[in-house]
Parts: sequence; structure tokens; C-alpha cells
Amino acid sequence: MQWQASHGRNHLPWQQTRDPYRVWLSEIMLQQTQVSTVLGYYQRFLDAFPDVASLAAAPQDAVLALWSGLGYYSRARNLHKCAQTVMEQWGGAFPQTAEELATLPGIGRSTAGAISSFCFSERVPILDANVRRVLTRVLAFDADLAQSRNEKQLWEHAQQLCPTENLHEAMPRYTQGMMDLGASVCTSRKPTCLVCPLHSECRAARAGNPENYPVRTRKIKRSSESWWLLLAVDAQRRVWLQKRPQAGIWAGLYSPPVFEDYAALQSHAQAAWSQDGTRGWQDLPGFLHVLTHKDLHLHPVLVPVDQAHAALVSEVDESCWADAAAWAELGLPAPIRKLLDAELA
Ligand code: ADE
Ligand code: SF4
Repeated sequence: MQWQASHGRNHLPWQQTRDPYRVWLSEIMLQQTQVSTVLGYYQRFLDAFPDVASLAAAPQDAVLALWSGLGYYSRARNLHKCAQTVMEQWGGAFPQTAEELATLPGIGRSTAGAISSFCFSERVPILDANVRRVLTRVLAFDADLAQSRNEKQLWEHAQQLCPTENLHEAMPRYTQGMMDLGASVCTSRKPTCLVCPLHSECRAARAGNPENYPVRTRKIKRSSESWWLLLAVDAQRRVWLQKRPQAGIWAGLYSPPVFEDYAALQSHAQAAWSQDGTRGWQDLPGFLHVLTHKDLHLHPVLVPVDQAHAALVSEVDESCWADAAAWAELGLPAPIRKLLDAELA
């Protein structure tokens, strides 16, 4: 906070007020646009719409016209919608907590934190790209932020690090300081650690690797798949297990053969064990198994197999007939172990 007072930005127009309308407008404009560009737009916008009531009452075309050139026009449409929501549902006054602000159109958790800490001195953090960079470096927080539980954990750190005293002055100062530090000192490339006020307590600086933070892999696209599991069971209640390929899901573990649909399962059972039709087969209850990147919908099918046929295929490499004692010793995926223990042990 001392550093912010002497080295930070303190003369931007939206810092000269605690009017949530003005602060909100600046935060939305600054989301994808640099300060120097925003300055002109901000003043023209306020001249046309000095308060939330005038913005809400304006035709959308007039709002978009004043936004013209700033880009990301969904921001302007949400801005307009938000003004109307504040008029209709909040009696024309912005709510005064980050939690409530975040329910409004176009206001995410970080923007809500900025508005609430700047205007109402609420003890809530922000976590925009700049602050994420500063915090992950100071803490040497190396968990992948593409995973929401890690992102959530960083929010918790951010919350705990907020000032605890003199909040009326401290919260706006702290929030602006974190933004300024990320924008001017703790930059993505070549941060100037030697002039940073956090230098003595920064773990990444001590390790000499600030540029390794933050860690974020490609945003994970979740997908889902259905797997049909062929539970071939012989007269001694042994189950046929195959070693999975060395790459992919359950790599190197033992599992009943997997098929992408029922027809594939059926034709394999018929070829491998001379199954004639599906008499005696039993569809076991399907269940969901959640992996990091994928939801697996598992559909086990119990297929009783003759002793004679069972002997024939047991020679195949890396596959085996396993009774309960044997599969207890094998590497099995947890959901498969649970399934076998429940259905066959
Ligand atoms: N970017 C987002 N909010 C900002 C602020 N208050 N000052 C400077 N840049 C910002
Ligand atoms: Fe960022 Fe360096 Fe400061 Fe750490 S010491 S917060 S890495 S500028």
C-alpha cells in the first residue's frame, strides 16, 4: 500500500470517486482495453449518460454508438442490460457487496471485487490477469489454473491476504496497488524484481523463476464417452481381464475388455467365446466415472462363458482369467475393482 501511494497510479478519473456507476463503467471498459484508449471513451460516455438511470433509459443503439471502436461489443450490451437491472431490481442503486454485484449482467467475480473494494471498501480480493500473476509468483503457486479447484484455492489465498485494518482507506489502496504492481513491475516478461516492494517475500523471485508463473495449461475441454464393459465370467466366477495399452485412460492397468457400443461387445463375445445370441447375459447397472478431462459412462454386461471356451483364450498375452484372490493382486482402476468386488466376489 505504501508502494501504491508513492509509485502507483492515483490520478485516473475513475479513482477520484466512489460512485459505483463510474467505477463500474471504468472496470468494464478496462477489461479488454488499455487505460490510454479508455480515457477518451470514458469521458464521452459519462457526458452522454451521467448516471445509471440515463443509461438504462437510452436506446441500445445509442449505447453501442458510444462504444464504437472499443470492441468486444457484448460488454456494451451487458452494460446496458446491467443498468436496466439495477433500475428495475435494485431501485436504481448498485448493491454494495461483491456477492450481489456478481449476479448482475457482465459483472464477474473479479470485477465485482474491484467495484466493491473501491466503492464500499469491502474486504474482498480481485483476481484479474495482473493480480493472478503477482499472487502466483509471490506464493510460488504452481497448480494448474485451468482446473477450477486450483483457481478456487488461489481465490482463497487472495481473500486471506487482503488488509485487515483501516479498511475504508486500505481496500481501495490495496486493490489499486495489486493492479499497478502487475501492470508496471510484475510484468509477464522480465519483471523488475529488484524494484518490487514484495521482493523480500516473493518465493518465485527467490527461486529465480518468476516467468514460470502462472501455470495454466490449455483450458480443459470436458468430454464424455460411453464404454461397454464385457465381463466374461467362467463357471468358477473368474473374470477375463486384459492389460490396457500403455497410453490413454487406465494405461497399463487391467480391465475387462472395453467396447464403444453394445454391438461391438456382442460381436467380440461371439467371436472369442462362441456366444450364440445373448441368452444368460445380464446388463448390470450403468454408472458414471469422472476423470479429469472426461466423463465415462460405464455399462457392464455380464456374459457367462463355458469352461471349454474359457481354456482356449487364456493363453493370450497380458490377459488372464482372474478370481477374486487374483484380481486383488492386480492393478485395476478403482471403479473396476469396486464393480468386480460388488458383482463377482
Ligand atoms: N484496469 C482495471 N481496473 C483498473 C484501474 N482501476 N486502474 C487501472 N487499470 C485498471
Ligand atoms: Fe513479481 Fe518479482 Fe515482485 Fe515477485 S519480486 S512479485 S516476481 S516483480
